[in-house]
Amino acid sequence: MATPNAHDTGPDMERVASGVGAHMQTHVRTDETAAMVNRADTMRELDARLGQMRAYLRTDIHGITQAWQPADYLPSFANQHRAFGRIRAIQAQMQDLPPELLTVLIGDTLTEEGLPDFTAELAGLNALPPSGHLHRWFRGWAGEEQRHQKVLANLLWLSGRVDMKAYEQSVQLFLQDGVDLGIDRDPYRGFVYTSFQELATQRSHANVAKLANKCGNPVVAEVCGQVAADEGHHAQAYMEFVRVFFELDPDGMMCAVRDMWQRLITMPAHHMREVDPSGKVLPPGATFAYFSAVAQKTGVYTVADYAQISARLLEAWKVAQRNAGRWEALPVPGLGPEGNVAQQQILCRQRVIERVATSRRKVVVPEHALTWILKSHTKP
Ligand SMILES: [Fe+2]
Ligand SMILES: [Fe+2]
Repeated sequence: MATPNAHDTGPDMERVASGVGAHMQTHVRTDETAAMVNRADTMRELDARLGQMRAYLRTDIHGITQAWQPADYLPSFANQHRAFGRIRAIQAQMQDLPPELLTVLIGDTLTEEGLPDFTAELAGLNALPPSGHLHRWFRGWAGEEQRHQKVLANLLWLSGRVDMKAYEQSVQLFLQDGVDLGIDRDPYRGFVYTSFQELATQRSHANVAKLANKCGNPVVAEVCGQVAADEGHHAQAYMEFVRVFFELDPDGMMCAVRDMWQRLITMPAHHMREVDPSGKVLPPGATFAYFSAVAQKTGVYTVADYAQISARLLEAWKVAQRNAGRWEALPVPGLGPEGNVAQQQILCRQRVIERVATSRRKVVVPEHALTWILKSHTKP
């Protein structure tokens, strides 16, 4: 099975930003209507550029026969004896996974289960051409993403430590509630969100992999490492989309980054819910507060990660650079007065984000009886 590098974007990805197929007339944005027209133009142009390349997914680069699948990590019942031996080995490893790490693993898996809602959000973006290469991208992306929830949920099931019914109730509620990504169907904001979110999930899965390895759990380490590599690759693609928009519509794109920096990027599963043993559906808030505090305490995903990811994006998009520890704006070709103001507002916001990240507040994990983890289970 291929294990491509998380950051191997392939030569085609570079062509997205290089202007291959550029045939769009840029427009000066004067009002809200013009902004929408402009986005229609830029989305068409992005779509055309995507058509110039084929290898923008790991699967495209390595081919479907080399693409990893959940079955690579799960027991095969082609040989029952071996399959049960494998299950026992997985359960022996999962036995020693600390409850905090198991909590984060379940929360991360639940987030991956939101794929149908994320796909609907992307399909609902304003100015999305009715068909074409962007649709192909979304389908290819979804095809890679669906592996994540499948392999992770199966591992949870095989672990013998998870109350799968309680977990599945949370999944159903999550899908039923839908997600609010805070993008208002705007493609610029949408691709800022996906760039950020892919980097955040990359970091979270990679950190779970690292910690699982330390606990002697190579199964979780391998799976989460593989998922993290996918997320890193997806991030590279979405970051390129934003680079294209910066080239075509610097003011519009800068304002969109400003909007997302100011409203902060929330995790899609932030309103995750549970059903308590009496059958009562718990209101949103408590479960996510617990999950996110545990993620911080274990070092899987912290406010420092948020600050580092936002810094990485500003540098990657050449919005700003750090000079002697201080953020300074970079000249952005074609940026007008509105964009200049937005750029300064982004820098202010970034400084606040970094101040919060370094304020070293002690993480307090709230009392919460998580329904997802079995209180007792038979040892393998
Ligand atoms: Fe994913
Ligand atoms: Fe992803």
